[in-house]
Amino acid sequence: MLIGVPRESAAGETRVAITPETAKKLKAQGHVLRIESGAGLGASVTDEAYAAAGAEIVDRAAAFAGDLLLKVRSPSSEELALVKPGAALVGMLNPFDADGLQAMAKAGLTAFALEAAPRTSRAQSMDVLSSQANIAGYKAVMIAADRYQRFFPMLMTAAGTVKAARVVVLGVGVAGLQAIATAKRLGAVIEASDVRPAVKEQVESLGAKFIDVSYETAEEKEAAVGVGGYAKAMPQSWLDRQRAEVAKRVAQADVVITTALIPGRAAPVLVSEEMVKSMKPGSVIVDLAAANGGNCPLTEAGKTVVKHGVTLVGETNLPALVAADASALYARNILDFLKLVISKEGVFQVPMDDDIVSACLMTQAGEVKRKKS
Ligand code: NAI
Repeated sequence: MLIGVPRESAAGETRVAITPETAKKLKAQGHVLRIESGAGLGASVTDEAYAAAGAEIVDRAAAFAGDLLLKVRSPSSEELALVKPGAALVGMLNPFDADGLQAMAKAGLTAFALEAAPRTSRAQSMDVLSSQANIAGYKAVMIAADRYQRFFPMLMTAAGTVKAARVVVLGVGVAGLQAIATAKRLGAVIEASDVRPAVKEQVESLGAKFIDVSYETAEEKEAAVGVGGYAKAMPQSWLDRQRAEVAKRVAQADVVITTALIPGRAAPVLVSEEMVKSMKPGSVIVDLAAANGGNCPLTEAGKTVVKHGVTLVGETNLPALVAADASALYARNILDFLKLVISKEGVFQVPMDDDIVSACLMTQAGEVKRKKS
């Protein structure tokens, strides 16, 4: 196939959908690769490195003229004007953006959003939410440690003893677990909360303490189980009890990392303005839900601000700040997904009996095909 990889144009997007490693493998499968000049620069991959892997370095129009386009983010309207009707597209295309899907359908794309892959063992190697959230969790702790004016580890020095930082992690999915593991390596004392009780064991196995909030009604117990590994919105009664427990921990915390999300909905508010006021001056909150409204109402998406003496980091694209590894893992996710939609003979196909393919298919033949979850 003629595979095109354009340079990403979204603000702050440094990642790229192909690396020399995956380019080499696609080339070995007999595909022709046309990569826009400079596409990898944000992730420290030069045109020369792609050329050495067997790709052709081309201009923007030629990269968009591929039969199969590999992207990180959804195409903009300018980019959609460059695509060939009938071309296929693989990327992180935001399945909940109805207008975006409509625009891709109108452009005649057969578009696959990898975020929509099911959370099954077979889909793990192409799970972009996991590969990127893992990086976000790591980077959140790096940023917190950078902004925090004290040490993370407990230190006993000739000049006196330094206390370990207290870190609270709210929302313990993939990002939260990596945040716990990373903060632990730095020597912090960590507590964590999640709506899903199944997480408790994982939190404890990483050496952190789980903030227990009891499930009292049948409705609360049922909601806590979630669906497909994801959280469901919890009843207010449970959220009130969680808030009381979390408030006590947040008041003692030096660093709070929030990652709580419910797919397709605004992020739940877990750290109120009152809680921020209760924190010590110099404390840091990194809000990974900033792009979805934030887990703290004081967070400003895309900005770092200081309010009530607390630094709030609202970075909306943390994986892009670890661009080389984020791209390396993302490109491997794509390579694995392509095995499902390109036959051994190198022909593009859409096997709708494959649950991963049918879940990721967003648009085809001018129509939005997204399955409702
Ligand atoms: P996510 O990014 O959708 O949400 C992050 C976390 O926030 C979740 O743990 C969720 O339970 C939590 N949350 C939501 N509302 C909350 C609230 N009010 N208070 C506290 N926490 C709240 O989740 P992510 O990281 O995508 O992971 C979802 C699940 O899928 C995890 O259990 C993960 O381990 C599992 N998973 C399974 C895979 C597989 O079997 N192949 C692959 C990847 C993840």
